[in-house]
This record gives sequence, C-alpha cells and structure tokens, in this order.
Amino acid sequence: MSVMVRVDHLRKEYRGLVAVRDLCLEVEAGDILGLIGPNGAGKTTTIKVLATLLAPTSGTVWIDGIDVVAYPEEVRAIIGYMPDFFGVYDDIKVWEYLDFFAAAYRIPRDRRARIIDDVLALTDLSAKRDAYVETLSRGMKQRLCLAKTLVHDPKVLLLDEPASGLDPRARIEIRELLKELRAMGKTIIVSSHILPEMEEFCNKIAIMERGELVIAGEVEAIARRLRGQSTFEIGVVDALAQAEAVLRGLTDLVGAVDVVEDDGGDGGSDAPALEGSRGGVLHVAYTGEAGEEYRVLHALVLAGVKVRLFRPLPASLEEVFLQVTRGQVA
Ligand SMILES: Nc1ncnc2c1ncn2[C@@H]1O[C@H](COP(=O)(O)OP(=O)(O)OP(=O)(O)O)[C@@H](O)[C@H]1O
Ligand SMILES: [Mg+2]
Repeated sequence: MSVMVRVDHLRKEYRGLVAVRDLCLEVEAGDILGLIGPNGAGKTTTIKVLATLLAPTSGTVWIDGIDVVAYPEEVRAIIGYMPDFFGVYDDIKVWEYLDFFAAAYRIPRDRRARIIDDVLALTDLSAKRDAYVETLSRGMKQRLCLAKTLVHDPKVLLLDEPASGLDPRARIEIRELLKELRAMGKTIIVSSHILPEMEEFCNKIAIMERGELVIAGEVEAIARRLRGQSTFEIGVVDALAQAEAVLRGLTDLVGAVDVVEDDGGDGGSDAPALEGSRGGVLHVAYTGEAGEEYRVLHALVLAGVKVRLFRPLPASLEEVFLQVTRGQVA
C-alpha cells in the first residue's frame, strides 16, 4: 500500500496557543481515517493545514508525495475539502453552484454538465438541480457541499464533520455516501466526535486531544493493544459447564471467562436435550499470541464440546476513546 497522506512533526500555533503539537500520521491510499477528538482537540486545524488553507508553524505535510506548503496548487487539484461550516450563497441554483466550482477547477465547459449530473446523482440531489441553494434543507446543503468537493474527482477527501447537525436519516445518508466513495477508491480523512458513526466506515482512527495525537491505527489493533487482549464469543450446543472448565484450564491463552447466555435446555439445537447438558454462549478474553486463537477452538473440539459459534467481538470505538482520553478530558 502506498502512503497517500504523510504528516511529519506538524505544529500549529495561534498567537502563542499551540493548537497542534508534534503530529505524525500516515494515511494509506484507500484508507478511511476517522479523526476523532473532543472540542478544541485540533481536528479542524489539522484538516485545514492538509487542505493548504493554513500554513503550519513547523513540520511538513505531503499529499500523494507533494509538499502542501511548497506546492499548494498541485495539492488542491487532488484534494476535496469540505469545511465544517457551509458558506451561504444567495440567488444561485444548485447546478450553478456546482458549475462555479467546476469552472474554478478549470474543467472545460463541455465536460461540466456531465460531471454535475454525476455528482448530483451520487449525492442524491438530482431532483434539486434547479432549486436555489438557500431553499435546501441543512442536510441537502451538506450533501451539496460534499458534491462540490467531488467535481474535480479528487483522490483525497478531507471532510470536517460532514454529518454535524443532521437528523438521523440524513446522517445515515451521509454515511452511505462515504461508503460509496470508499468503494470508489478514494482516500478519506473525516473528523467527528460521534464515535459509533465512525466505527462503521472507518478502517483506521486517529484520536487527538489538546493538539496531540493520543493513538492511531486500526480500531481492532488499538483496542487490542490497550486491553492486551481481545474478546471471543463462543457458542456451544451442550456441555456449557464442560466448555467453561476447558476454557478456564487454558490459562496461557484465556483470561476471564463469562457465561453470557445459559440455555438451560437443549442449546437451541433440534436434538433432544440430554439430562443435565445445557448449551449457551461464553465471552472469553483471549490473551494469547495473535494468530493462535485457533488453539482455543482446538482444545474445545478435542474435549468433545459441540461448538456452534466462535468469533472475535468487534471492539467498540467508544470503549477505545474513553480509555485513551480518560482523565485528560475530565
Ligand atoms: N483562528 C484561530 N485563532 C486562535 N485560536 C484558534 C483558532 N482556530 C482554532 N483555535 C484554537 O485551536 C485549538 C484547536 O481548535 P480546532 O478548531 O482545530 O479544534 P477541533 O478539534 O476542530 O474542535 P471542534 O470539535 O470544536 O471542531 C482550540 O483551542 C481553538 O480555540
Ligand atoms: Mg472542528
């Protein structure tokens, strides 16, 4: 994988206030990176530097290998930036608004109509083509703003809280749109403080707090590193007690064992229940080496336990966030 965005020791001060401090970050092509942090963490500042709109106090940022300070024009041609606030444009229609930006990107007039149709379709705004911008709802304006960032088909999207202030339906629409853009192969950096939302479409996260990067990487890997373990869900058809005993015996692989569901009967299978054999579901903290999880399954199967479910539980982003920012926010 090639590195699409590289941030190296970025620092940004506003008259003495350090908004971003020694930020180092790499985003690979095709990544959707969620930039997460509480208010004032430095997300907008970081995104604006990437978007060539703010000069860093020190440090360097490259997008697709191009230095954003030295070659802002070249960088602007390959990025799409969506600000956290949507500017108001009176007396301009939706298509004119898009045409204006397409012209600003020096897209020839004969190609613009087609591109406008495409981005309107992508953002589900085709029906509003001839509406005045000021008559759109907030969610529609947000989508129009996203449409605007797409007219020049940028490789990298920098989206500053694209779903803020939207109702649940509109948020879901934005989320679906981001998934579509991801499928199109775009590299996306998206800021938010709404965690569960990010979890669904970001493959990586970077958590900032007070201008500093607290942690960055794949959600699952971060959660694992923080907890030193991951949780597995194991369902058994019968012999719940036996399964529990086997798991508790695997002290080199397994930490806590919790029975989260006790069938008290036949374990949900169609087979008649044996006297005293109950099925159920266990949550097991895996503490072994990565890649050796199969040893847990192996031990259960060897002991004759009928395993019907064996899967890692996805780490919650919220969990990770609370853990890494604990104390510092409070
Ligand atoms: N133009 C400015 N002049 C002075 N200080 C600023 C300016 N813009 C931002 N700051 C300060 O820099 C810090 C980081 O702000 P920034 O807007 O980057 O945070 P953020 O993570 O985007 O927050 P939010 O979640 O509220 O959008 C804050 O302390 C803020 O007060
Ligand atoms: Mg912000």
